[in-house]
Amino acid sequence: MITPWEVEGLIDYKKLMEDFGMDSFEKILDKIKDPHRLMRRKIIFGHREYERILNAMERDGNFVVMSGFMPSGLPHIGHKMTMEEIVWHQKKGAKAFVAIADIEAHVVRNVSWEKTDEIGMMYVKSLIALGLEEDAVIYFQSASNHVKDLAMELAKEVNFSELKAVYGFESETSLAKMFVTVIQAADILHPQLKDFGGPKPVVVPVGADQDPHIRLTRDLAAKSNIFSFEKIEGGIRVRSRKGSEYLKKLNSLNFEMKKFEEHIDIFGDENEVEKAVRSLEVELGGYAFIPPSSIYHKFVTGLRGGKMSSSKPESYISLFEDLKLVEKKIMNALTGGRATSEEQRRLGGEPEKCVIFELYTYHLVENDRELKRIEEDCRSGKILCGRCKKVALEMMLEFLKDFREKMDEIEKEIDLYRIIKR
Ligand code: TRP
Ligand code: SF4
Repeated sequence: MITPWEVEGLIDYKKLMEDFGMDSFEKILDKIKDPHRLMRRKIIFGHREYERILNAMERDGNFVVMSGFMPSGLPHIGHKMTMEEIVWHQKKGAKAFVAIADIEAHVVRNVSWEKTDEIGMMYVKSLIALGLEEDAVIYFQSASNHVKDLAMELAKEVNFSELKAVYGFESETSLAKMFVTVIQAADILHPQLKDFGGPKPVVVPVGADQDPHIRLTRDLAAKSNIFSFEKIEGGIRVRSRKGSEYLKKLNSLNFEMKKFEEHIDIFGDENEVEKAVRSLEVELGGYAFIPPSSIYHKFVTGLRGGKMSSSKPESYISLFEDLKLVEKKIMNALTGGRATSEEQRRLGGEPEKCVIFELYTYHLVENDRELKRIEEDCRSGKILCGRCKKVALEMMLEFLKDFREKMDEIEKEIDLYRIIKR
């Protein structure tokens, strides 16, 4: 069972992709220049329409990366993945949008506004310490009228049976919990509003549990638009969702067309046709949203096994963790080691079952050859878990110290960033 609120049991990612209708990231990996560590290692395993982003990167750099963080618990190393993905896309030319989901934290998780402000800023500073640059749009949901107004408009297109199908909501579910779904959809779609320069590809890096939000948002994007597209031989079939009088407006476009009662077939390069129809839609006052793309990273295993979760402090390492506690958490982590050291020397460890090896892979070791060496030393029994944990601990402490130094420097730089808050 996977929804944004619960993930249970061991995850079969292949099945998850099939069930949710995601595409495999591995298949497009070779099209990416200097892929991020999380991409190379297949931790980012799935996507929706990431091709749009690849094209935009290559073509004109007019695209957006956007994701959000709920300020209910402190940022931990799971959030760090999303943060790195945002920063990576920004370096590749994307305009970055970051939402601090304070509305969600307040109305669904009961966190006070004082707390959401305080914790929200810790996320903002963490992002900056991890390399987010100054031209990012950073906002708290509660302070964005663009987001709140758009959410209200999107709400027209959602009904209860859809929410039930996508999220498993029941008649007891609170309206607040339902409403934050359109808030999040508005987070994702608002970079395409006229005030932000109109329609453009947007990629949302998230954990796989957030996919229901992505599906709802893509559906809402289509439903809110005037025109819809369908690829046909040699061009695009265009329909209007908001009445056939809009189809007549297409006459002004400079393409070969065939008109029908309910649709118009427009011939030519599909990208060109779509682009022309979208800008016409914007002129007519429509949204012309491009369905947002997404990439999905795997769930992070909790340090003692199971799922890493903000509600279980022993399961994660926060970016602000007391260094003594880091030591305790790492030394107590679940490994893929054997019952005795004699056995481990003889049989070797099992890195695929080891949380320490996951830490190396996801976070601590940038160099692929070094990672390979650790894996081999583990499998061959050359290294035992006690020493291996100490190495991981050293690396983690080094990262955290460096991170904290940057956090201190940020206090001076933070004014260079525009942060939209209450
Ligand atoms: N709901 C997300 C979470 O719980 C946070 C979030 C809010 C988000 N708005 C978003 C994620 C927009 C991606 C895009 O972590
Ligand atoms: Fe994990 Fe290291 Fe032990 Fe191997 S040796 S099982 S990688 S802790």
